[in-house]
Amino acid sequence: MMAGPRRFGSGFGAGKVILLGEHAVVYGRPALAAGLPDGVEVRVSPTLAGKGRIHCEEWGLDLSLDASGTLPLALQRVLEEVGATGTGWELQVSARLPAAAGLGSSAALCVAVARAAASWLGLPLSDEAAAAAALEGERCFHGTPSGIDNTVAAFGGVLRFQRPDSRQQIDLPVSLPLVVAHSGENGQTAVQVAGLRQRWSREPARFDAIFDAIAELIDPAIAAIVAAKPERLGPLLTANHHLLRQLGVSTERLDEIVSIALDFGALGAKLTGAGGGGCALALCPEAPEKLVQDLERQGFTAFMHTLLPRAGTQRPED
Ligand code: PMV
Repeated sequence: MMAGPRRFGSGFGAGKVILLGEHAVVYGRPALAAGLPDGVEVRVSPTLAGKGRIHCEEWGLDLSLDASGTLPLALQRVLEEVGATGTGWELQVSARLPAAAGLGSSAALCVAVARAAASWLGLPLSDEAAAAAALEGERCFHGTPSGIDNTVAAFGGVLRFQRPDSRQQIDLPVSLPLVVAHSGENGQTAVQVAGLRQRWSREPARFDAIFDAIAELIDPAIAAIVAAKPERLGPLLTANHHLLRQLGVSTERLDEIVSIALDFGALGAKLTGAGGGGCALALCPEAPEKLVQDLERQGFTAFMHTLLPRAGTQRPED
C-alpha cells in the first residue's frame, strides 16, 4: 500500500433526526430527515498491530478490531469498501452524539471512518461513495437498514429519502427550532426493526396500512416546510408519533416527553429514530429554552437544535 501524504486521516459523519417516516422507510415508504451539526469525528493512522483498534472515550469504547462482534465487523466492511485494506488502522473517535439514542450514531461513525481512511490514503471519496461504504457497515449493525441514516450522515441538510437511494434535498426558507430530549433508555435499532418485522409478518395488512398512513404525511410536511408554515408541520409530527405507537416502538418515557412538549405548547412532537428508548423531538418555535428546562426538571436530558435555512451539508470542514 502507498503511504498517504498525511500522518493522520480525518473524517466527519453527521448525526441526524428523523422528522417523519422512520420504520415505514424500511418498507419502501418515503421519510424526511435532517442532519445535525454534531456528529462523529474520526482520526485514523495505519498500524502493524493486527487489524487495529478503535477508541472512543465518550462511548466508553476501547476495542481491538480483531475481536469478534458487530462493531469490528462493521468497521472492517466500511474499510474494505473504500479500499483501505492491507494494513490495520488505529481509529480515534470523538463523538458529540449519544449512542443508541435514535440520532444515527452508527451511521455517523461509519461515514467518518470511510472519509478518514480515504483521506489518509489520499483517495477522493464523494458523499455518495461515503454513504455507500457506510451502508455496508450499517448492514452489520442492523440487517436491513433503509439507507436513510448513512445518507443523511454523509450529505447533511434536510432530505426526503426513499429506498434504495432516492434523495431529494429540501431547502428550508426559515429555521425550524427543535427540542430533542433523551428518554434515558437505550434504544437498539436492530431489536426494534426485528421486533416490528415479526409483528408485520403476523399481520402484514394491518402494518402496511399504518406504513401507508405515515407515508401520506410526508408530502404535506414538505409543503408545510417549503411554505414556511411550522404550524402546519407540527400536527403531522404528532400524528406520526401516534402511528409509531401503533407500530409498537414507543415507550412510556417517550410518550411522556411528547405529552410534556405538547402541554408546553410545542406545535408537534414525536419519537425520532428506531424508538424503544432513545430520543423524542418537539417543534417548538416559542421559548424552546423553557421547554428544555421543563424537560430537564422532569428528569430528561434535553437540548435545542435549530435546523437552519440553508441547503447542503452542515458538516465542518474535514
Ligand atoms: O435509531 P436510528 O438512528 O438507528 O434510526 C433508524 C431508522 C429506522 O427507520 C428505524 C431504521 C432504518 O434503517 O431506516
